[in-house]
Amino acid sequence: MHTAGQPSPASGNAAQAANTLAAFEAIPTGAALGAEIRGIDFSLPLPDNVKAALRQAWTDHLVLLIRGQDIDDEQLLAASAIFGPPHEAASRKYHLDAGQKVDNQYMVSTHPSVAIISNLGPDGRPVRDNGGLGSYEVVWHTDNSYVAVPPAGSMLYSLEIPADGGGDTSFNNQYLAYQELPAELRRAIEGKSQVHDSSRNSAGILRPGVKLPTSPEEVEGPTHPLVRVHPLTGRHALYLGRRRDWPSNYIIGMSNADSEALLDKLWAHATQAKYAWTHKWRVGDIVLWDNRCCMHYRTEIDSSQRRVMHRTTIKGGPIVAPW
Ligand code: SIN
Repeated sequence: MHTAGQPSPASGNAAQAANTLAAFEAIPTGAALGAEIRGIDFSLPLPDNVKAALRQAWTDHLVLLIRGQDIDDEQLLAASAIFGPPHEAASRKYHLDAGQKVDNQYMVSTHPSVAIISNLGPDGRPVRDNGGLGSYEVVWHTDNSYVAVPPAGSMLYSLEIPADGGGDTSFNNQYLAYQELPAELRRAIEGKSQVHDSSRNSAGILRPGVKLPTSPEEVEGPTHPLVRVHPLTGRHALYLGRRRDWPSNYIIGMSNADSEALLDKLWAHATQAKYAWTHKWRVGDIVLWDNRCCMHYRTEIDSSQRRVMHRTTIKGGPIVAPW
């Protein structure tokens, strides 16, 4: 996997004022996706031409890194709104239904479209398991693929980062994964859809109040095509969602064994290092990714160190299959 390069200032061309086209720079990571954007300060107003440049950079690079931000949730929501209206994080409902308290550090944010991604327990100390993603490794996935209309994108803002304790986040390019899919796999998935299991989160933790499926018939979640057409670019991307221990996602119209075998091959292909870029976080970083053509993954965190991030999700549209 390719890792982000050298430290960079929040503002690109230091001679230019932030949030002007003159200061705006998009510097590709050199990997299969991602660019660092310079010259942006989300605590200040952004003119329409700079917002348009950000949207174009997102379309071109799939993942944007914007460093050196110092903003509150309202400003984070305003930054996220540049790319589309808010989507209520699907995990929120499970936490609220289970009676978890609204707390901007621990679990459930005061704002419906801000999710707290932290490894803190209810007493504010870092833990391994906090009922959410905790300090666990987070497997490759796209956000909220287990709802009927998943979010177009997600924006993650880092507030507290372990000094040396993991929690690097990787992203991969699913346009490229589809483009390079061997012909026999392309044929095998033509016209096919899978059921997306909603029971467990991307750290493998059963969602509060949910029963673990014991057969495919018990797997709850929407059906989405294995390939989707991006609404802005018209390009095709593999759309795999996430993989959990069986019984979980399955391909409609295949035997269980055939579905598992095909999913194994697709996942092995889609998660190759050549499609990925890894980000090592600093406080004040914002990373925006496109759930319609990328997946992401996080390494385990040292559970003695605090990691707190706020994430917004951006509303998506119905998933369109190419067939
Ligand atoms: C996520 O999967 O949305 C969280 C990624 C991270 O914590 O870096």
